[in-house]
Order: sequence, then C-alpha cells, then structure tokens
Amino acid sequence: MPITLSKLKKMHQDNDKIVCLTAYDSSLAFWVAQAGVEVILVGDSLGMVVQGHNTTLPVTLDEMVYHTQMVQRGNNQAWCIADLPFMSDTTSQQTIESAARLMKEGGANMVKLEGGQRVLESVAALSSLGVPVCGHLGLLPQSVEKYGYKVQGKDSESAQRLLSEAIALQNAGAEMLVLECVPANLAKEITQQLDIPVIGIGSGKGTSGQVLVINDMLGITVGKAPKFAKNFMEQSDSIQVALSNYVTEVKAGVFPADKHLVG
Ligand code: KIV
Repeated sequence: MPITLSKLKKMHQDNDKIVCLTAYDSSLAFWVAQAGVEVILVGDSLGMVVQGHNTTLPVTLDEMVYHTQMVQRGNNQAWCIADLPFMSDTTSQQTIESAARLMKEGGANMVKLEGGQRVLESVAALSSLGVPVCGHLGLLPQSVEKYGYKVQGKDSESAQRLLSEAIALQNAGAEMLVLECVPANLAKEITQQLDIPVIGIGSGKGTSGQVLVINDMLGITVGKAPKFAKNFMEQSDSIQVALSNYVTEVKAGVFPADKHLVG
C-alpha cells in the first residue's frame, strides 16, 4: 500500500517513528522503499553526493525534475518529497511554477523548501493550491555561504525563533517539517508542539522520524561523513541488509544514539 500523508500524520500522533532516506535514482529508490522506508527525499544534496559539487547551490530545477522522475520509476510505495533547489523559490509565483514541475513532470508527492519567515507566503500559496509542503529549518544548506554549516538554535533567542518559525510554517499550511542540526532538546520540544510530523537529521531522537543522506548511511561519502550519520554497511553484508537495519534502528529508537548528537 502506498504511504499517504494521513498515514504519516497518524504515525506522528501515535509516536510511531517515520523512516526517511534520500535517494536519487531508480534502483536505490526501489530497494529503499522495499526495505520499509516510508519517505524518500529527493534531496538537493545530490549536488554534493552525486554531482560532486561543494554545496547544493548549483543544482537546477531541471536536474531535480530529472532525479525525481528516476526515483519515482523505482519507488512503488514510499511517500516522495522533492527539494525546491536554490533560487527556484524566490517569489510565490516562481515557487508555484517550480513545485508544479516537480509534481507534474517529476511525480513528487510533496515539495520541500528551506527557511522560515522568508517562505511563509509561498507555503500558504502552495497549500491553498493543494500542494503538500515540507518546511526545512535549522541548518539550511542553501544559505551556507551566509551562515556556514553550523548547529542552529543553541542560545535561547535563536531557539525561540526556531520554535516560532516552526509554528508559523505549520499555520501557513506546511504538512511536515525537517529539522537539521538543532539541539536534541529543542527538536523534541518543537516536535511536541506541532501537529505535523517532524523529521530530524542531526537533531537527536525526539522527533517523529529520522532522515539521512543515503551515501552517508552506506559509507560511500567521499571525505568525512557528518558526525550525526552512521555507516550501516559496517555490520551488513549487502545494501539491502544495511537499509533494513536502518529501518529497524530508527523504528526502535536505537538510531540516533547519543554519540550522534551534534548540539
Ligand atoms: O537535500 C537533502 O538531502 C536534505 C536533507 C539533508 C534533509 O535536505
């Protein structure tokens, strides 16, 4: 049975952990979905792990459409989120046009965009058109040139701002939220305050679910993998077993462990 948004919301309410992983092509998307991962994110992280760029900034909308199409040919059941790449969401009108391409041409179920206050109007516009939207707060890879790769929400002022932005995104119509590199206690509090599922990365285990970049969890990251990631191939003899172990550990609350905390 394909995973629906109402199923994901119910999982959040029931405290049943949601497992999410990135995928960028058809064959890995097939095995990711087969392993029981409920949400596939076609992340613009593909700019770094597939295309070899230093940041996600060069990724184009055409490339996101292309990778989403590939993923959706292999994925037969997971909920598919596609990222709106850098500068494809600068106005509400542009965001609507970009999201339309990701859904109509790419076949995505939901689109994700980075930011708080800046994107509220666009989130409301998409939501009123029936487009499911996932917000993304905390470390924002598309703003790396301005803020760097740093844990966000460490002091009380920025923690309060993140909580307010999360609530504002939900009120604007976001149906899901990714929290990247936020202190675990803050991520837990935000999750408890929201009715929508919160998917964490580098944000502890108190969120409704977890996401990792697939290259990090398969141990094929070029250079140093982030501290919050775990190489599931270390104790597995195939990719399929590693994927299944990831699902089991997220469901059981074993991953992330305390050693994966960054905040
Ligand atoms: O692009 C991506 O893979 C992401 C995750 C890091 C959440 O946005």
